[in-house]
Amino acid sequence: MMPHIITLTSTRKRCFVILLAILIPCTIFNFVSFPDMREETNLQNGIAELQAKLEHLHAKYISSQEEINLLSHQLAENSHILPDLQFLIGNGTSNISSIKLPSIYNFLPHFLDDPNSLRPAFVQSKGRSGVSMVLGVPTVKREVQSYLLATLKNLLDRMTPAETTDTLIIVMVAETDLEYVTYVAKQIEVQFPKESESGIIEVISPSSSYYPDLTKIRDTLGDDHQRVVWRSKQNLDFAFLMSYAQTKGTFYIQLEDDILAKKNFITTMKSFALQKISMKEHWFVLDFCQLGFIGKMFKCSELPWLVQFFLMFYNDKPVDWLLDHLISTKMCNLDKDSKHCKMAKARLWLHYKPSLFQHIGTHSSLKGKVQKLKDKQFGKITLYYGHDNPDATVETHIKPYKQYTLQKAYKGESFFWGLLPQPGDHLRFKFTQPIFIKRYLFRSGNAEHPSDRFYNTTVEVMPENQRYVNKNSVNVTEDGYVIIGRFDAMGIAQGTVDRKYGKISVLRLTVHSESDNWAILSEIYIVEDEPS
Ligand SMILES: *[C@@H]1O[C@H](CO)[C@@H](O)[C@H](O)[C@H]1NC(C)=O
Ligand SMILES: *[C@@H]1O[C@H](CO)[C@@H](O)[C@H](O)[C@H]1NC(C)=O
Repeated sequence: MMPHIITLTSTRKRCFVILLAILIPCTIFNFVSFPDMREETNLQNGIAELQAKLEHLHAKYISSQEEINLLSHQLAENSHILPDLQFLIGNGTSNISSIKLPSIYNFLPHFLDDPNSLRPAFVQSKGRSGVSMVLGVPTVKREVQSYLLATLKNLLDRMTPAETTDTLIIVMVAETDLEYVTYVAKQIEVQFPKESESGIIEVISPSSSYYPDLTKIRDTLGDDHQRVVWRSKQNLDFAFLMSYAQTKGTFYIQLEDDILAKKNFITTMKSFALQKISMKEHWFVLDFCQLGFIGKMFKCSELPWLVQFFLMFYNDKPVDWLLDHLISTKMCNLDKDSKHCKMAKARLWLHYKPSLFQHIGTHSSLKGKVQKLKDKQFGKITLYYGHDNPDATVETHIKPYKQYTLQKAYKGESFFWGLLPQPGDHLRFKFTQPIFIKRYLFRSGNAEHPSDRFYNTTVEVMPENQRYVNKNSVNVTEDGYVIIGRFDAMGIAQGTVDRKYGKISVLRLTVHSESDNWAILSEIYIVEDEPS
């Protein structure tokens, strides 16, 4: 367990040792009495949790330190009024003024117009804090149907009492019509009296002076004005909600007001986070849903990265792109290719599967935009079709993502998921004994990632006997393979192999074009023919 301590900075180390002193007597006792794997995992998770809480405390410490600095600067500036203070502040450099760092006012100067701009206009709270999980649920007025209450009911139903105690749900009504905000808050109070009383649900809304004049913002990315307004406001909404949530707990999860959650989602998310922390994976995002910004988990102590980024570029990009850009900025080397970038980003942005959240609504809050996206990972869904293929050695230079290897796909145990195929890449199936092939089928992409297909990819065979290969044919490659087919626009390659080629010793797929996508083979089916 010691390495966990060594990595801590000195400020945190002190608190950590104190906390450890509290923790160790009970955990050691358990550990000694039941020295099994489970206990060890529990201990590791306990330490990971402490580590996460310490980071949170450290962030709080920084922010109070910042306030002290601000205060002492103000005092220093006014020291002519109170000369004794100069002694107390005690720096001999008071006549050298500090450089001025940029602040959020540089990007959003309208905050200066009203001292209340950063103060919520409405707060319904019992002051719950120090929880493990903070769920942020932004909601806006919808023309068609609101799913907010159904969403909250579902979230609460899917939590155990223990999970409820360790969670805070913050509903942000991103509207400036206070009457409407109050109405929503009242509805929540009436619908969930027990939860409102215990403080698990809070309702907040921003002040109208928090938003700049949205009618006057720049049109960007060639989007129509209505869409630019919608996505710019969404950036500001998320920044507000995250700023409010930041001090309330250890982990923050961004949700939406029209979703369904899976049972035990709180424990699942927390265990995944703690497991990654104890394995020393330095994640920035844990992703529990494939859709947009739903089910993205952050450490509360790292929310300032997002808030600052969203506020700086709120008018330029949609919020999910900004998240992606932030990670690219942190991880990608422009001298290297997009494959490198994708893999580097995957180190900070970890995906949990299957998804824990699903959309219920079909009406997006952007007027007229029908939201059809559903997370395919949510329900049971077939992601591959397995077959009993002829014995073969399979190989490819395309790097597999995680355990999704070509070997497993060939055996029908999973699908193949390759990182960014490049021109000239092959997938080779070398049969243990040359065979007659009656039929072949390769299906690329799957329900969850339909675009992860093989594009511009041919199917080629190497007959056992080169006598049957007409080297002058346009359909024969330089290295003697006969091109017998290619992937179509639907991502499928299928066909027969003419018996005139005799027995086939190798079948391979060859990629001819650069692709921006990864590639999945969700079905490989090679049917052997009877020898004549
Ligand atoms: C080459 O293949 C194409 C389609 O794959 C086919 O139409 C054509 O007849 C073939 N040419 C020869 C010479 O085999
Ligand atoms: C496939 O790749 C080849 C080689 O790069 C290229 O000449 C051809 O135009 C591509 N075909 C399609 C349909 O993209």
